[in-house]
Amino acid sequence: MALILGIESSCDETAVALVRDDRTVLAHKLATQEAHHRPFGGVVPEIAARAHVEAVGPLVEAALAEAGVSLADVDAIAATAGPGLIGGVLVGLMTAKGLAYAADKPLIAVNHLEGHALSPRFADADLAFPYLLLLVSGGHCQLLLVGGVGHYRRLATTIDDAAGEAFDKTAKLLGLGFPGGPAVEAAARAGNPKAVPLPRPLKGSREPHFSFAGLKSAVARAVEAGIYTREDIAASFQQAVVDCLIDRTARALETLDNDVTALVVAGGVAANGAVRISLEELAIARGLPFVAPPLWLCTDNGVMIAWAGAERFAQGLTDPLDTMARARWPL
Ligand code: KG4
Ligand code: ZN
Repeated sequence: MALILGIESSCDETAVALVRDDRTVLAHKLATQEAHHRPFGGVVPEIAARAHVEAVGPLVEAALAEAGVSLADVDAIAATAGPGLIGGVLVGLMTAKGLAYAADKPLIAVNHLEGHALSPRFADADLAFPYLLLLVSGGHCQLLLVGGVGHYRRLATTIDDAAGEAFDKTAKLLGLGFPGGPAVEAAARAGNPKAVPLPRPLKGSREPHFSFAGLKSAVARAVEAGIYTREDIAASFQQAVVDCLIDRTARALETLDNDVTALVVAGGVAANGAVRISLEELAIARGLPFVAPPLWLCTDNGVMIAWAGAERFAQGLTDPLDTMARARWPL
């Protein structure tokens, strides 16, 4: 049985996990930087990188201590090597390289998107390839046909903002603070999703791509109008995002002739209850199983990187010590 140490540092969470390939989590340590970035209303890359430097060493030590193992017991060291804020990615990847060199263990450079894409297989041991994945995070909004470890076909992406970005910008417009997604979801619970007329960009178009910039501008106009409550705007915005995600996912299923094992969602926005419920309804309507990781596994964490490392390690996929950190790295 392989034991993998995973390190995540591509945005504003420093996370370290020790995961066995039988899906046992021996340790998971996570330091969020939310308080550092809140005064700025968004993640400040330079502050993030410095906070990762401070956090990562102690988190590795704490994870090993919690699991009661030493580096010698670990089979491979996995770290996010991109895409993400490059200063933070460098911190995690260089830490992993140092540990791998010192302990003479293989390095596994994980694409952060692959971490999200494979996390549902950590949550559900029965989830087989190929599955249709809606990957919705702060930086990405994609539909991927996940054919196997390292085999990803991108069917659609956003032509402007990511879904999580739209949630964050809406939160800012509504004065709901940072991070935006959970705050908008909480406000939406007290609002009427039909109160504010908002557009559904690209709904009904043949290609299953996404667009959220127009929706954000419409939210800004609704705020300026001064006639709607914050809760109604939040609820109407969330409903518009859900409608777009469902329409585009349904279109992708059509182009695939439903020929997948399951409909799967991952990434930070997959933590949203309205998104999960509507996707599950779509899956049921198409006769497909629906798989969504538990909420803690949707937002950035160390377990998904360790797990992707375990999946790659099982395929013999390891990386040399001169592997580059990449700010951009399409799957
Ligand atoms: O996957 P993630 O943790 O980081 C990236 O790789 O981007 O996703 C973060 C994004 C943020 O935009 C955040 O606002 C959004 O996921 N998010 C949510 C919820 N929780 C997090 N969006 C909507 N509803 C939520 N409950
Ligand atoms: Zn992420």
